Amino acid sequence: MEILLEKDLICTQEWEKDDLDRLLELAFQMKQDRFGKKYLNILHRKQFFMFFYNPSVRTRQSFEAAATELGAHSQFLEPKSMRLKTSKSAGETVEDAAKVMERYAAGLGIRILEDKIGAYGEGDELLREYARWSRIPVISMAHDKFHPCQGLADLMGWIEWLASSGKLKTGRLAAKFDPGALKGKKLLLTWASGALCRSLCSAHEAALIASRYGMDVTIAHPEGYNLDPKVIGEVKMNCKSEGGNFEVVHDPDSGYEGAHVVYSRNWMSTEAYRDGELKKAEEVEKAFAIKGWTCNAERMAKTDNGIFTHPMPIDRGSEVTDEVASGPNSCIYDVAENRLHAQKAIMAATMGGFLD
Ligand code: CP
Repeated sequence: MEILLEKDLICTQEWEKDDLDRLLELAFQMKQDRFGKKYLNILHRKQFFMFFYNPSVRTRQSFEAAATELGAHSQFLEPKSMRLKTSKSAGETVEDAAKVMERYAAGLGIRILEDKIGAYGEGDELLREYARWSRIPVISMAHDKFHPCQGLADLMGWIEWLASSGKLKTGRLAAKFDPGALKGKKLLLTWASGALCRSLCSAHEAALIASRYGMDVTIAHPEGYNLDPKVIGEVKMNCKSEGGNFEVVHDPDSGYEGAHVVYSRNWMSTEAYRDGELKKAEEVEKAFAIKGWTCNAERMAKTDNGIFTHPMPIDRGSEVTDEVASGPNSCIYDVAENRLHAQKAIMAATMGGFLD
């Protein structure tokens, strides 16, 4: 059985809901039967290129493990080893690089974030340019706008922890995929202080996928830290069509009331890029000047026995206290594990996998 779904995965919002459901179903099955014979060789000897402009722990490790577990191979690439054309130096064009890569590999992942672009949106343009020139699927491994692999792993973790009666479960006992499991549950996505000056991609993807699966979405941030208005428009549209509520608040406390999932995360302000570069030092200074936005036990006590989620790496002490991040309601390691299962499903589905 061929399980090919779509060519590229740049943002989950661009996939049909039915295709996301099929992908998630497969990811849950792959988690339950991780080394089952069924999946061991579905990408036998195929190559996945991982093109990293920025560092990574989870994304690189989980994609390498995913490729191995499906019988494929992943290759680590960096721009410094590729002699690419940039605004400052001569070199190979994206068209040439993409058309050569497709001759070797069955899939191409790209990560480009934060200081590796000069203005918001440039990373997204780069991924779409690779997608335009190559016939192999282009998968975002996190870029300035979206992080679809993270969004899918988040959703899996929240379903595992909140499935059925809403009682907390251990994510290790992987639940069966239920597309309605999160309907009516409340996600609080809250800005937090921190020194990492992060791109908006994980926050965007969390709000998009939560609203797509019927969650109520509350976004909390100080003035000046708005997410992309186009993405917010899509989140509102998802909430409307799935029957969820949507709100934005500008204080660090009120959003916790009744939340089932709390996602605290630092992200950069709308002024972060100027004169063609990221003003990181200014951004960090500005973020630390805003006091009182750390997720803590007192705030979590206002939730409906809510779980704490984060894509990691965590800026502990700034984004969240140790007590919450390492507490009994923290699903962070299950979500991190789910990167592997989600990406196995993505690779199988987009790189021409076959199931018996
Ligand atoms: N969450 C995530 O993408 O982690 P890495 O940056 O370590 O890959």
